[in-house]
Amino acid sequence: MTLVFGIETSCDETAAAVVEDGSVIRSNVVASQIELHARYGGVYPEVASRAHIEAISVVVDQALSDADVTGEQIDAIAVTRGPGLIGSLLVGVSYAKGLALALDKPLVGINHLEGHVYSLWLTEPERPILFPVLVLVVSGGHTELLLMRDHGVYERLGGTLDDAAGEAFDKVGRMLGLPFPGGPNIEKAAQKGNASAFDFPRAKADDSYDFSFSGLKTAVLRAATVPPANSSRRAGSKDQPFVLRSGISVADVAASFQRALVEALVIKTARAAQEFGVTEILIAGGVSANGALREAMRRETALPVRVPPLELCTDNAAMIAAAGYYRYTMGMRHDIDLDAVATWSLTTAAYEAL
Ligand code: KG4
Ligand code: ZN
Repeated sequence: MTLVFGIETSCDETAAAVVEDGSVIRSNVVASQIELHARYGGVYPEVASRAHIEAISVVVDQALSDADVTGEQIDAIAVTRGPGLIGSLLVGVSYAKGLALALDKPLVGINHLEGHVYSLWLTEPERPILFPVLVLVVSGGHTELLLMRDHGVYERLGGTLDDAAGEAFDKVGRMLGLPFPGGPNIEKAAQKGNASAFDFPRAKADDSYDFSFSGLKTAVLRAATVPPANSSRRAGSKDQPFVLRSGISVADVAASFQRALVEALVIKTARAAQEFGVTEILIAGGVSANGALREAMRRETALPVRVPPLELCTDNAAMIAAAGYYRYTMGMRHDIDLDAVATWSLTTAAYEAL
C-alpha cells in the first residue's frame, strides 16, 4: 500500500488529503475562501495567499487525523506546483517542502490540470479506465481537450482561444447580478428558465478542437444589460455596475447562455471522441459539476462519460495526491529547490521540460 499526502493551494481553496494507491480517498479536507472573495465578486490574489497562510497548518493536521495516519506513515508528498496564482502556490509549495524535509519523505510537484484529470481515477475505481481516453478539463482558468494514451501522456487537441468556460460562467454571473462564483448560481437560476428564449451563438463552425466564448459573452452582455452611459468606463466596473434591461428574465438568459456554452463544449468533444476512437470521455474541473453539461454529453455520445462526484469537481487535494501517486510510481522526485510556476500547460513535453 502506498499513501500519498496531497497539498493544493493554487487558487482559492486550501486543501490537503491522503490517498491510498492513487484511487482510495482516506481523507479530503478543503477550506474554501469563497465567502471571503464573494464580497469582491472574484478572487483577490493578496487576500487569497494570506488566507492560505492562515489555514494551511490546520488543514494539513486535519487531513492526517481524518485519515488516521501519522506523517511517518506517508510514502510521498505531492503538491500543486502550478499553474495558478503565484503567491497562493508558494504557500503550498513552501509548506510541502518543509514537511518533506522534516519527515524525510520524497516530494513530487504536480500540475494542477493533471490533478483535475486524476480526479477521474478516484471516481468509480472499481471500473478501471482503459486508454486511450479523451479528457475535457473545464475550470475557472482552463478549457482543455486532451487525448490521453497512457498515464502522464497528454496530446493537447485544443482549448479555449479566449475565456475559460468557468470564467465565462463567472463573468455572465456578474452581468446578471448573481453571487460569486457564477457557475453554480447560473445553473441554479437556469433551472427556472427557458433555454430557447435567446438564440446565443454556439461554437465557431470550424474543424479545429478550439473553443471561443468571448462572442457568446458579448452577446449575453448586449441582450441582458443596458449599454453604459459613460462609454469611456468599462461596464461592470465599480463606478459603472451592470444594469439589467427592464423586464428581462435572468432565468431565461442564464438557461440560454448555459445551453449555448454546453453545446459548444459537447459538439467538439463528441467529434474528437469519434475521430480518435477512445474508450470513454472524462470530464473534470469545476464546470464538470454542471448538470446540463453532464446530461448533454451523455445524450450526444454513445460512449461512457465519466464525471467526478461534486466534491471532486472543484479544487481539492485528493486529486493532487492521486496524480502524485502515478508520478511517484513512475519515478518522479523533486528536491528542496522545487519552485512554483504560474503558467504551465499540460502536455507531455511541458511536464518533462520542468
Ligand atoms: O476547478 P475549479 O474549482 O478551480 C479552477 O481550477 O479554476 O473551478 C472553478 C470554476 C468556477 O469558474 C465556477 O464558476 C465553476 O468552476 N463552476 C461551475 C459549477 N460549479 C463550479 N460552472 C458551472 N456549473 C457549475 N455547477
Ligand atoms: Zn482547478
